[in-house]
Amino acid sequence: MALIAPSILTADFLHLGDELVRARGADVWHLDIMDGHFVPNLTFGPPLCAAVAKASTVPVECHLMVDRPQDLLARYAEAGARRLVVHAESTPHLHRLLAQVHDLGCEAGVALNPGTPLAAIEEVKDQLDLLLIMTVDPGFGGQSFLRGQIGKIERARQLLPGVLIEVDGGIGPQNAAELVRAGADILVAGSAVFAPGADPALRIEEIRRAVHETR
Ligand code: DX5
Ligand code: ZN
Repeated sequence: MALIAPSILTADFLHLGDELVRARGADVWHLDIMDGHFVPNLTFGPPLCAAVAKASTVPVECHLMVDRPQDLLARYAEAGARRLVVHAESTPHLHRLLAQVHDLGCEAGVALNPGTPLAAIEEVKDQLDLLLIMTVDPGFGGQSFLRGQIGKIERARQLLPGVLIEVDGGIGPQNAAELVRAGADILVAGSAVFAPGADPALRIEEIRRAVHETR
């Protein structure tokens, strides 16, 4: 069964606690950490991660879209993140970085930009708990899904039988089923779940139903 990981990026930050309660059915909270360097956008840091981890029993994963992730990992681990996902493009020392994540007691994931080949993780596949395949260029919520990434998801499924495959960007009821068929275990959804006037629990349910109905 696929898990749904709402990205809080498009939630109402002024009422974030209420948003988390309203998003019933979430399996994982996906926190998009952006530093204004690795990606042009800037979001939030460890204090917000700690607040979410404290407010909810749903596990938190941090998707680190930052330069020098090695300097920040401990801060997010201390803030209660269960899983830390680093971008392959953000470091020449992926092996060392994944070891650092495990030493901190967290699950380790690697994210790949749409332009980065799967080969980038081949030599560290034994260290991976999760591979995140970006289906938009990272930096912003609400972008259009890149269909060209579906082949990469299928190939990742073959290459990494015991590793969770997560997909992120432009995902909703319209494409959830085909992503799960391609091999995705976790679907990140931001604007499909948190949108002005929407009921997040209903949106999560719609994505889940879309996956089930076309199985
Ligand atoms: C993009 C982020 C995604 C994104 C998801 O850089 O990693 O998590 O915000 O938002 P939607 O679902 O709106 O594409
Ligand atoms: Zn993300």
